[in-house]
Amino acid sequence: MKHQVRDLHEYFQIRELAEQQPEKFWTAIAETFEWTKKWDNILDYDLKKADVKWFEGGELNITENCIDRHIEKRGDQVAIIFEPNDPSEKEQRITYNELAEQVNRMANVLCQEGVEKGDRVCVYLPMIPELAYTVLACARIGAIHSVVFAGFSASALASRINDASCKMVVTADGGFRGDKTIDLKGIVNKALEDTSSVERTLVVRRTGADVHMENGRDEWLSEKLEKANSFFAPEKMDSEDPLFILYTSGSTGKPKGMVHTTAGYMVYAAYSFQNVFQYEADDVYWCTADIGWITGHTYIVYGPLLNGATTVMFEGVPSYPDFDRFWQIVEKYEINQFYTAPTAIRSLAKQGAEHVEKHDLSSLKVLGTVGEPINEEAWNWYHHHVGQERCPIVDTWWQTETGGIMIAPIPFTTPTKATYASFPLPGVQPALLDEEGDEIGDNVVSGNLCIKFPWPGMARTIWNNHQRYIDTYFARYPGYYFTGDAALRDPAGYYRITGRVDDVIIVSGHNLGTAPIENVINEHQNVAESAIVGYSHEVKGNALYGYITLKNELSEEEQDHLRNEINGLIADHVGPIAKLSKMQFTSSLPKTRSGKIMRRILRKIAAGELDQLGDTSTLLNPECVEEIIENRV
Ligand code: WT7
Repeated sequence: MKHQVRDLHEYFQIRELAEQQPEKFWTAIAETFEWTKKWDNILDYDLKKADVKWFEGGELNITENCIDRHIEKRGDQVAIIFEPNDPSEKEQRITYNELAEQVNRMANVLCQEGVEKGDRVCVYLPMIPELAYTVLACARIGAIHSVVFAGFSASALASRINDASCKMVVTADGGFRGDKTIDLKGIVNKALEDTSSVERTLVVRRTGADVHMENGRDEWLSEKLEKANSFFAPEKMDSEDPLFILYTSGSTGKPKGMVHTTAGYMVYAAYSFQNVFQYEADDVYWCTADIGWITGHTYIVYGPLLNGATTVMFEGVPSYPDFDRFWQIVEKYEINQFYTAPTAIRSLAKQGAEHVEKHDLSSLKVLGTVGEPINEEAWNWYHHHVGQERCPIVDTWWQTETGGIMIAPIPFTTPTKATYASFPLPGVQPALLDEEGDEIGDNVVSGNLCIKFPWPGMARTIWNNHQRYIDTYFARYPGYYFTGDAALRDPAGYYRITGRVDDVIIVSGHNLGTAPIENVINEHQNVAESAIVGYSHEVKGNALYGYITLKNELSEEEQDHLRNEINGLIADHVGPIAKLSKMQFTSSLPKTRSGKIMRRILRKIAAGELDQLGDTSTLLNPECVEEIIENRV
């Protein structure tokens, strides 16, 4: 059976088959991989208990599928192109043969340093090849990687290390990002003051900075790698053994460690990559995400390598040394598939098309976006200036939890429509539900987006907290996976994702829970209470607006000082991306009779939609609304 869809008629046929006979559909795809032992049972599930198992009884190692099986045919083909932050530094072209050697050496080092199957390894690295090697080396020995984005603060890092009781941290002396260097080792040192599980830290030399190495705990990696053996026999993993943990923000409390398992994730990453990007032999593919996010896991590392592709890893930022950096890289490597975020497109569009026009982008075939809804203006700019109206745009909807792309056009097959992620991939069964939990039929068009049948790439649990996994995703609509997003469906069956229905806000493509930020603000001795909402922002998509009540009155000057302190606290405890763009001090916040802050009203005020506040009379304290409107910033 073919699973690379190439025309619309075939798409509908395959989608139908995948719905009628999901086991047959996924078996055919799973059979294209290397297994050391075939599965006994394709699928076993109970969505009400959030209990899902794919390919049970199977044994495999994902790195054999990402690397070893390609060696014979394409050992000399480039697997990873590393493009450094600074264009004057030479790139690295790492062939599949070299990747095999590096990953095997790294696996031997991790093993020598005491990492065993099932142990958690925290990876806190910039976008350098060692990040890919470490992730794959963990997979090779069966350790569970937990990559933490190297822009997170020491306390965010510490809480993630503690949650998973990581035994090891792999980091660097520092990282380059645009014209800045980031003191990664210093941040790790600080984080490790508040953790007790870490026995060993391995440090990559990148910036050459003078860093503190703790005796008995910290070691330089390069010396160990050189001495290590270049073969490590891949550990046999059960299909449902965890492959990695990746943290995503929750609307309440601490981040959720989403757990992805080996076989299902592998099958889904490879399948979705193949269909959504239509990669062909000798193409060069580039996803601009960071491996600290799921996009980087699935579509820089695993998806492309499983398909034997050439994938670009870029260390830098779109604006350094100038705003044409992306397009210069596209030209340099003759990129064929380019995958980025709407926030990047908007910020580059603002700089003017001349940066794009300087470069030859004729190699491009497919353009992708991910992370948030793309507005029509950005879509058109991308289509016109970057794709020269020749390249289909794949607006890909998915989540950390889904493991891979769920809804997206298939290029050259699905007619694209600006702002619509369009159709589900075959094997994905979306549904729109109303507040009562009823599925909305074909003609009514807006509801809460759910998935009604398991797919191999779905997360299996939240690390150490299966109940929270059930409560967050499976309790609201029993028998369904609830995405937390709202969506529209047009008469042709195209989906358009309209945004989150809960208190998660997407800022510059980063998924931020409001609660953890509010908790940080509330820690300040002058603050009584706070509420954060998003408001739409030209470049960031959304920016954060904080309403804050104080314990006692402060002068203007003291208020200015407090604003700086609050953003400083947020930067330290959550990360600079979570800083508030606007802050308003107020004497109280609008509350329901049960004491819940009415964010809906605060959102409307932040957006300036003052005529749409709705009925405020049911509030506990309706009088505060006037005051808030009057002093809005
Ligand atoms: C949330 C998931 C999936 C990788 C990056 C983000 C929003 C994602 C789209 C899109 C509209 C989108 C959703 C989703 N989102 N892609 N194409 N159109 N919204 O992963 O941090 O887990 O965030 O991002 O709200 O639930 P994440």
